[in-house]
Amino acid sequence: MSDRESVYLLACESSCDETAFCIYDITEKTILASVIHSQIKLHERNGGVVPELASQLHFQIIAPLLDEILFKAKLKLEDIDYFASTAGPGLPGALLIGFTFTKTLAWSQKKPFIPINHLEGHIYSIFLDNKEISFPFLSISVSGGHSHIYLVSSFNEYKLIGKTRDDACGECFDKIAKLLRLPYPGGKYIEQIAMKWPLLNTRNYTISNLQDGTISFSGLKTAVLYDLIKNGYYDQTIKSLFAEVHPEFIESVATSTQYVITHMLLAWVDYFINLFPEIKSVAMVGGVACNNIITDKMNDHLSLKNISFYSPSQKFCCDNADMIAFVASQKISSNNYEPYNYTQSILI
Ligand code: KG4
Ligand code: ZN
Repeated sequence: MSDRESVYLLACESSCDETAFCIYDITEKTILASVIHSQIKLHERNGGVVPELASQLHFQIIAPLLDEILFKAKLKLEDIDYFASTAGPGLPGALLIGFTFTKTLAWSQKKPFIPINHLEGHIYSIFLDNKEISFPFLSISVSGGHSHIYLVSSFNEYKLIGKTRDDACGECFDKIAKLLRLPYPGGKYIEQIAMKWPLLNTRNYTISNLQDGTISFSGLKTAVLYDLIKNGYYDQTIKSLFAEVHPEFIESVATSTQYVITHMLLAWVDYFINLFPEIKSVAMVGGVACNNIITDKMNDHLSLKNISFYSPSQKFCCDNADMIAFVASQKISSNNYEPYNYTQSILI
C-alpha cells in the first residue's frame, strides 16, 4: 500500500521497440518498480524494427504492463502523484501510444503530466548507477537512432556539440549485420563475433576523418558492401547475398567493423577533449554503450589522460523508462516544468 510520506511518479517510454514503465519514489530518490517489454524477438525476423508493427505491439501490451507495474510497486493508480512520458524523438506511431496513454492517465487523475525528451533521458541515464559523476562532463550518446556528443553542465543544461553527418552508430552496426545476414540488433552480434579475435582491421576499411567535430558512419557500410561484391558474395541486382559467406570472411568483416567504429569513437572524443580541456569526465550512453569492446577501449584510452570514464549498466543503456523517470524527477524537484497544455498536445 502507499506510504504517503513518499511522492510517486509513473514514467513511460515507447519511442521505438520497447514498451516500459517505471515508478519512481521522488522523496527517496529511488526506483520503486520497473517493467519492460522488448519487441526484439518479433522484429528479428524482419531484420529491423517495422514501425507499424511496433505501434501495434505497444498498443497491445501497454494496459497489461501498467497493471503489472502497479502490482509490483504495490500501488494503485490513485497513489501516483506525477505522470511523465517520452515525447520524442522516435517513431511517431510508437511514441503516440505511450504518450497518449500516459497523459490520459494523468488527465483522468487530475495530476501533472510532464513530457520528456528521449535524448535527455539517455544523457542523464548515466546517473542511474553512477551517482558520483560530476559536472561538467562530455556525454557520447550513441544508439540506433542518433549519435550525438553533448557538453553537460548541470541537470538542466546541456549543449549539442557534435553529431553524425549521416547514419547513427548503432544503425551502422545494424546495416552491416544485415548485409552479413546476422540477426537484429546487429551491434550485439558483431561484438560477439569480434570478441573471439584480436581487435584488428584485417580488411583495411578506412577510418573516416572528422569534419569540425561531425562524424560519418555511412562510408563504412559502403566499404563492407563493396568488399562483399568484390569477393563474389553479394549480387547488387537482387540486393542480397547470393552465395554462402565463408565464416572466416564474416569474422574478419565483423572484427574490422568493430575496430573501425571503436577507433572512430576514440578519435571523436579526443577532438572534444582537446577543445574543452576542463573536462575531467566522459560518459557513454545509448544502446551502443552495451558494447564492452568499445567501453573497455574508451576506459583505457581516457585513463591515460586522467579522465574518468562512465557508462551505465546494460539495462540502462538500451531504451528504458527509468531514465525518463529520472529526468522527470529532476524537473519536479527543481520545479523546472510547465503545466501541460492539453489543448496543444505536441510530440517533440
Ligand atoms: O538505445 P537503443 O536501445 O535504442 C535507440 O534509441 O535506438 O539502441 C539500439 C541500438 C541498435 O542499433 C543496436 O544495434 C545497438 O543499440 N546495440 C549495440 C549493442 N547492443 C545494442 N551496438 C553495439 N554493441 C552492442 N553490444
Ligand atoms: Zn534510445
